[in-house]
Amino acid sequence: MRKPVIAGNWKLYKTKDEALALIEELAPLVTGVDSVEIVVAPVFTVLPALPAALAGTGINLAAQDVFWEEEGAYTGEVSPRMLLDAGASHVIIGHSERRQYFGETDTTVNKKIKAALKGALVPIFCIGETLEEREAGNTFKVLERQVKGGLEGLSETQFAPVIIAYEPVWAIGTGKVATDDQAQEAHAFIRGVVAQLLGKDAADKVRILYGGSVKPENVKGLMGRPDIDGALVGGASLKGASFASIVRFGE
Ligand code: 13P
Repeated sequence: MRKPVIAGNWKLYKTKDEALALIEELAPLVTGVDSVEIVVAPVFTVLPALPAALAGTGINLAAQDVFWEEEGAYTGEVSPRMLLDAGASHVIIGHSERRQYFGETDTTVNKKIKAALKGALVPIFCIGETLEEREAGNTFKVLERQVKGGLEGLSETQFAPVIIAYEPVWAIGTGKVATDDQAQEAHAFIRGVVAQLLGKDAADKVRILYGGSVKPENVKGLMGRPDIDGALVGGASLKGASFASIVRFGE
């Protein structure tokens, strides 16, 4: 009942021509897959170049961040309306790299989620503990704080489009994927926090993606778990063949 989402976070990779070449490779490999919601997230400057190439492919376009104001004296920022204007339908918010290097907090993440929803963008809301937090036994405490902080003030109706991505920081770019059990445990916990906050119906419906060293070889095991509804893929989304085989995990 929850449609799986496979999203590629291209991070700080791919110029316009490189992005177009990747779509050209990827599109034919995922044609006809309609049981999975497919998303790619290039850098801001590449967004406007992609809608024409994505037309008819079923691949959705996401930005990697958004600012919460519509316009104003905010040098360097991009608003939800501008992302829509560039052709995006989704936006990644609160990625751990933004929390780690650019000062994102639960409060800024919350403002961005609200602005994205108001602007009719689908937020892909990222959370996840560091290795230090996991080893100190604080994983659930951190996840609960991030979920509650990020979703503060949202009604069940406002929350409905939100996609959550659980990305344990220690698994990102390290090749050290969480075990299926570790991921399932965290996802079930996150779903429980959503149930507490917004009710069982909201919790049953929300898609929770796993991110952190997802590869064609490990996606099937992860997707076999009941609370894992998709993947947010970094490195393995930069090649058409590997991303397509992740998208086609069910075959
Ligand atoms: P990797 O798949 O490269 O570990 O990156 C995961 C990630 O951060 C996706 O947002």
